[in-house]
Amino acid sequence: MLEDKFGRRFHYLRLSITDVCNFKCDYCLPDGYTCDSDRDFLSLREIQTLVKGFAALGTSKVRVTGGEPSLRKDLPAIIATCANTQGIEHVAMTTNGYKLESDIQKWVDAGLDSLNISIDSLDPRMFQSITGHDKLTSILTGIDKALALGVKVKVNAVLLKQYNSSELNQFLNWVKKTPISFRLIELMQTGDNQAFFKKNHVSGLPIKAQLLEQGWSQLIRDKAAGPAQEFYHPDFAGRIGLIMPYSKDFCNTCNRLRVSATGKLHLCLFADQGLDIRPALQQEDSQVLETQLHGLLGDKEATHWLQDGYTGGTKHLAMLGG
Ligand code: GTP
Ligand code: 5AD
Ligand code: SF4
Repeated sequence: MLEDKFGRRFHYLRLSITDVCNFKCDYCLPDGYTCDSDRDFLSLREIQTLVKGFAALGTSKVRVTGGEPSLRKDLPAIIATCANTQGIEHVAMTTNGYKLESDIQKWVDAGLDSLNISIDSLDPRMFQSITGHDKLTSILTGIDKALALGVKVKVNAVLLKQYNSSELNQFLNWVKKTPISFRLIELMQTGDNQAFFKKNHVSGLPIKAQLLEQGWSQLIRDKAAGPAQEFYHPDFAGRIGLIMPYSKDFCNTCNRLRVSATGKLHLCLFADQGLDIRPALQQEDSQVLETQLHGLLGDKEATHWLQDGYTGGTKHLAMLGG
């Protein structure tokens, strides 16, 4: 079992398989950022060794992230590799939804059981202005398809003062009839989005107060759950989640480790640097990796230092899939 010096256990691996993204959300990939599409990303073989090593140390959930993971042609094979590894019980993915409508069946056939999809606005024009793509209708159809296939669906909307702060009622209307978890995420400051952050960051706390006033109740957090505080209401088919990384004690329940698309272990989303574990993956012997992981975990810090404006080596979240 992977456990750090603060007693936190890590059974959740967030695996980025590419840092390339075809959307251009202002808060994530600012204008002018070009992805290096020639980068030598982890091969299927290396991913197999990686997941086997993590599973041997108690990892039971893998979330495939990007950039945008569906840009990799071998995505179904990657999902199948994770799903077929002994000890892995859940394979999830975070996507911008670009290929959701066309590819969801392939992903499910490969073993995917849950999907997180970014939708920052339910207004098609606003959606296009944030992402650069007129894809909202297709993504909503894709979500219906995913739900019909029994996939657990969560939707992510980053709270952005100048873009979607008046849309809470539209989000709630959708959740009333749709069995999704709709999560409102506080914008996080990264190396590349400082000016955007100053103009757009809003706290989720007033929304939490409003939900509690309107008859929503907070769910008790499952130990395998991610960072969202979740709320339910008897009149709503779905749930509302709030992800508030600036709130006190946010990191106490940290249960995840990250590996970048080029094989760097990140002990925190805002770690100073990634630690190279690729040589261990190339030995195709997961034992070497297991020994290395135990050693590296000793350096994991208690928390991020975002409150002080510190963003570590994280220029933008597409680097690591959030
Ligand atoms: P599940 O609970 O497994 O569904 O995962 P999740 O909500 O963590 O996954 P998702 O990829 O949808 O991320 C949603 C938001 O949470 C993104 O903005 C992530 O950057 C953020 N996030 C996820 N994990 C962490 C974390 O450990 N620390 C911080 N600060 N933010 C995180
Ligand atoms: N702050 C908060 N969330 C972010 N995401 C990307 N960049 C940021 C940021 N700076 C979100 C995306 C996606 C998820 C993986 O991370 O919108 O839903
Ligand atoms: Fe864990 Fe770092 Fe996220 Fe905190 S910010 S929950 S320590 S990964």
